Amino acid sequence: MSGATIVHHPLVQHKLTIMRDKATSTQGFRRLLREISLLLCYEVTRDLPVTQQTIETPICEMESPTLAGKKLVFASVLRAGNGLLEGMLDLVPSARVAHIGLYRDPKTLKPVEYYFKAPEDLNERLVIVVDPMLATANSAIAAVDKLKERGANNIRFLCLLAAPEGVAKFNEAHPDVPIFTASVDQKLNDHGYIVPGLGDAGDRMYGTK
Ligand code: URA
Repeated sequence: MSGATIVHHPLVQHKLTIMRDKATSTQGFRRLLREISLLLCYEVTRDLPVTQQTIETPICEMESPTLAGKKLVFASVLRAGNGLLEGMLDLVPSARVAHIGLYRDPKTLKPVEYYFKAPEDLNERLVIVVDPMLATANSAIAAVDKLKERGANNIRFLCLLAAPEGVAKFNEAHPDVPIFTASVDQKLNDHGYIVPGLGDAGDRMYGTK
């Protein structure tokens, strides 16, 4: 598996355009992120296995499909991941949640973990890692490293925007983890921002800048 699956759905692309616009308010950005995360969640779960269950409708008995296996895990990379997480939980309310906190060491520029909490049995569940921006991919790679260390072996990565450099680096580090995104943009700039991108997703979401 290499590259990324781009979700070309017109609603996704329309909402993304409004999110990119610097004139969009914090409130608008947050609402759109929640809406777009429902659509992205729909795509990233499109091929989940189902099993047949016998139920009784008011009319008759029938065999009907339900999701097979254990509940999903959504793993949010703090803090911006939480913006995607909320909408995903609207769509899959029974999902379990992992939180992964990473900061960038100012000297080494490498991601350092400050928080990790996840369900015990990651090895038995599909884990969908969520982080809106796949830029350098350093934190995404570190988050997946950690989840694998804790036993996860069936992982997908969902973001809103990606840089080609981040996609390539992530693919190289974790070729078994497919990436889903609404767009692969032009490039990363010298400050590690995606171009044209949408700015700092966390700041735009929480109004911190
Ligand atoms: N993180 C962001 O929030 N924005 C970028 O463009 C890159 C990383």
